[in-house]
Amino acid sequence: MPQTVEIVFTSIEDLAARAGRSESATLVVFAGEDLAQSHATRNLLGPAAELIGRAAGAAKFKGKTSSAMDLLAPSGLKVARLLVAGSHPSKKPAAGAPPVDYLSLGGSVMGKANGATDILVLFDLPDWNGDPASAAADFLGGMKLRAYTFDSYKTKKKDDDEKPSAVSVVIGVSDPEAAQRSAQSRLAIVEGVTLARTLVNEPPNVLFPDSFAERAKALEALGVKVEVLDVAAMQALGMNALLGVGQGSVHDSRCVIMRWEGGKEGDAPVAFIGKGVTFDSGGISIKPAGGMEDMKGDMAGAACVVGLMHALASRKARVNAIGAIGLVENMPSGTAQRPGDIVKTMSGQTIEIINTDAEGRLVLADVLWHVQNQFKPKFMINLATLTGAILVALGTEYAGLFSNNDELSDRLFTVGMATGEKVWRMPLGPAYDKLIDSKFADMKNTGGRHAGSITAAQLLQRFVNDVPWAHLDIAGTGMSSPQTDVNQSWGSGWGVRLLDRLVSEHYES
Ligand code: BES
Ligand code: MN
Ligand code: ZN
Repeated sequence: MPQTVEIVFTSIEDLAARAGRSESATLVVFAGEDLAQSHATRNLLGPAAELIGRAAGAAKFKGKTSSAMDLLAPSGLKVARLLVAGSHPSKKPAAGAPPVDYLSLGGSVMGKANGATDILVLFDLPDWNGDPASAAADFLGGMKLRAYTFDSYKTKKKDDDEKPSAVSVVIGVSDPEAAQRSAQSRLAIVEGVTLARTLVNEPPNVLFPDSFAERAKALEALGVKVEVLDVAAMQALGMNALLGVGQGSVHDSRCVIMRWEGGKEGDAPVAFIGKGVTFDSGGISIKPAGGMEDMKGDMAGAACVVGLMHALASRKARVNAIGAIGLVENMPSGTAQRPGDIVKTMSGQTIEIINTDAEGRLVLADVLWHVQNQFKPKFMINLATLTGAILVALGTEYAGLFSNNDELSDRLFTVGMATGEKVWRMPLGPAYDKLIDSKFADMKNTGGRHAGSITAAQLLQRFVNDVPWAHLDIAGTGMSSPQTDVNQSWGSGWGVRLLDRLVSEHYES
């Protein structure tokens, strides 16, 4: 059943008053190193503060982040439940990561409060890093991300389903107006992540190229210019590599170009390009049946680009940005592309198809070329669930980063550590590039068993001239990645927070 979650800020005084009169609420307070509590927390708890010290030993609670202690019917308080959450860094943060990540803290608290319908948070910590208003905004964002659900296709409520249908959260902070102001941009990002997750989670009979394009079109309401190229328009442009992938499907291919013009007129845009294979059966080189349903998520790159454009537009980012996605369904049929086919890309270069399951690079080849020539961007970053081999190399912790530019790579690495959406740079070079030379065409679409993620990236690079470019292989992070404090969804929405931060830190005027 769908769940609604409402989260608002209030003053610490109002929060205390609410806690004093509600018998059903779960009250959340924080304790740090040596169970230290803030002045406001001790004030609110009064004699009940003593409970924390008494229970902590038995609960093995040491005030560390990601841990919490649950006290039911706490004596001396009206509320039904007191949840004491840790605010002291549980381990030395990774280089570049904040000491306490308030987004994760919000996610963790939302998780610990599971099942509660009426949550009161006294967000006054014994220890802070940075500005409390911005911390509160992050905390709220983390709660929202954790609360994300995708259950619109479940029609029956199970008996053991503990999820309430409506949750109300009130967060008490010292300056609610400042927190609310900070929260505006965070909420824009949360909405973008939510949109990306939902697109990835949607089933492939519902989300196919045309219906995906419709969802991108909805960004017009935010002031984004959205152009949808249909098959005829792509034929006219010569995007035959992209079209070849979709030719076996009853669903026609699309390419969607989104433009957000929030920067100075005439300022070169930043460009994001996404692989949008709405279902990847492998085509004639068909995949094994086991787990094939996961290939509904083979559009996670495109989902991230749409989510990012949503975030940039709704927070009115002062930047010119292009989002371009290639939408196709890769299916076997009598009209499907064959191994042995040779396609002529928009760039004029030809590609021999060795394996129809190496389709993402074919889609991106044409979209990269088009974006580079049409928009002369400052940089191009593409995202793609491109290779299973990146899971072998990096697992689900880091996305693979391939780039022709050290500055762009360094920036991506740094914002990756700060946001927790981490990237690890992989090599490119002429020796790898040689592996995709073809006997019959300019190149072939697979490079053999070794270095599968790199040879895929080398093919993309053949469609990029001098523009700074980065390719993020998100096959390990975009879907079915490990659940975290801020993500319990199969489709993670990976990359929206990373790229939003890249833009806000380096490219906004
Ligand atoms: N979409 C897949 C890659 C993938 C695998 C994404 C697992 C997410 C999870 C891609 O189109 C693909 O099939 N790649 C092949 C390439 C091979 C045929 C050269 C692969 O990785 O096996
Ligand atoms: Mn494939
Ligand atoms: Zn694919």
